[in-house]
Amino acid sequence: MTIQEFKADFQEKCSPHFSHDEIQSFWQWFKENLESLSHSIEIETEYKKWLSELMSGKPIQYIFGYSFFHKYCFEVTSDTLIPRPETEELCELILKANLNSPLTGIDIGTGSGCIPITLLCERSNWEFKALDISKEALKVADRNTKKYQLSNRLALVNQNFLENNLSVNNYDIIVSNPPYIHPEEKDLIANRVTHFEPHMALFVTNNILEFYIALFDYFAQNTNPNAQLWMETHQDYCDDVVVLFNKKFTAKKIEDLSKNPRFVNVVK
Ligand SMILES: C[S@@+](CC[C@H](N)C(=O)[O-])C[C@H]1O[C@@H](n2cnc3c(N)ncnc32)[C@H](O)[C@@H]1O
Repeated sequence: MTIQEFKADFQEKCSPHFSHDEIQSFWQWFKENLESLSHSIEIETEYKKWLSELMSGKPIQYIFGYSFFHKYCFEVTSDTLIPRPETEELCELILKANLNSPLTGIDIGTGSGCIPITLLCERSNWEFKALDISKEALKVADRNTKKYQLSNRLALVNQNFLENNLSVNNYDIIVSNPPYIHPEEKDLIANRVTHFEPHMALFVTNNILEFYIALFDYFAQNTNPNAQLWMETHQDYCDDVVVLFNKKFTAKKIEDLSKNPRFVNVVK
């Protein structure tokens, strides 16, 4: 089959299931990956496999094992969340607020490592730690760290952030996009998310604010004077996070590009 024949077949099979824009976008992924294969038997086999995965609802990023984020391309697997556009916005906010000064920071719940790797690629005088409870996610973060040659500035740590056994540090900046969905919301979330993305990355166990309460204590005890904390939040609980942090620090709510309350920035 020629690439044009694959395209015609792809459009015909996808049109009952996806919008015109989705088909256009998915086809670009298919085309790029088909063109990277050389043997015709392999091309047809892979094409069929990818198409059946797409029809099963599997996100395109998991089918091909990568995701675009900010200016970069990260490996993702079923052990890591697919990085979201809102999180790109979080990185932009942090970069805009911090131009030249050297900073030492930590990313709590790093997944693929997309946040610290983006920040370190953009700021050559910063150093970060990246913590995650998932060993498998950290293997992916490690490969992404090596891809961008950041092993000398990014240390990966396998730890449960909710347990009180973290070593004491003096960070200038803490960043986190923690799990922030209550299990009761599960039925409201798209199947492609709940069926394919790691639940450990999405859901809290019971208290919707549990990570933010832990971040409050961690920020109080492990940062320098004038330190900053940047968090992504659930739009319905952004105000609660602001109230929590304003008890001791100065916290402000920031909307995402869709005008939803999404981020909280705290200064000591
Ligand atoms: C919402 S995902 C964010 C991933 C990545 N930072 C991003 O923005 O794409 C939350 C991450 O927190 C990790 N996580 C969940 N519970 C944790 C815990 N108790 N301690 C440390 N990390 C945890 C998950 O494994 C997941 O990688």
